[in-house]
Amino acid sequence: MNPAIANLRFISQTGQEIETLIPGLALLRIGVFKDYPYLYEGDLAYEQNYLKIYSSCSQAFVFSVFDGDRMVGATTAIPLAQETAEVQKPFVDAGYEVSRIFYFGESLLLPQYRGLGIGHRFFDEREAHAASFGSYTHTSFCSVDRGPSHPAKPADYRPNNVFWLKRQYTEMPHLQCTMSWLDIGEKQATEKQMIFWIRGL
Ligand SMILES: CC(C)(COP(=O)(O)OP(=O)(O)OC[C@H]1O[C@@H](n2cnc3c(N)ncnc32)[C@H](O)[C@@H]1OP(=O)(O)O)[C@@H](O)C(=O)NCCC(=O)NCCS
Repeated sequence: MNPAIANLRFISQTGQEIETLIPGLALLRIGVFKDYPYLYEGDLAYEQNYLKIYSSCSQAFVFSVFDGDRMVGATTAIPLAQETAEVQKPFVDAGYEVSRIFYFGESLLLPQYRGLGIGHRFFDEREAHAASFGSYTHTSFCSVDRGPSHPAKPADYRPNNVFWLKRQYTEMPHLQCTMSWLDIGEKQATEKQMIFWIRGL
């Protein structure tokens, strides 16, 4: 085992147990999502409120990574039926049975912990959690579409698409929604186009 990984602790939590993770999760989201393609100007109060969606759902799942007492990574999942109307809508419109889909939220790792296989573990753990109920047929997540030539795109930017294809997810251009947030350096929140990816369980 990679010595860097051997020193980390991995914790799975569901439903109400997730409440204690919220402050760490909020900080991690703000820290990781400030980078392209998210460019998210985080708001701690908003984050703490938003993340209650997980602690208030008994089937919600958070798999987190700790280095000592510090949360350095985490990934989330929740039944699509418990997600917001804007996330459910494209599936409803396309004729999917929402109650059969488990939705994956964020995957977050501080940069120094990337490239060690933890991203694969994030998928393994969430897919196993979704399968454990025996009632879900698909897992899905969405990705922000910043277009081919956004000015903030770093020259060495490595998209996650290759990774997601390797995990047998298919990009579904007809399944899209918009989400609104404040980009770093902007004064007003703007809508972003989100594209869903899906895989059979
Ligand atoms: C997405 C993320 C969680 C992946 O975590 P990770 O632990 O680095 O991923 P892994 O080490 O398991 O690698 C997964 C795949 O990514 C690719 N990859 C990882 N590091 C890479 C690198 N330095 N160069 C090229 N490809 C790389 C590989 O395809 C790898 O698969 P392989 O090992 O089968 O070849 C992490 O990169 C991250 O936090 N990114 C920022 C936030 C984000 O974009 N989240 C996803 C959407 S919410």
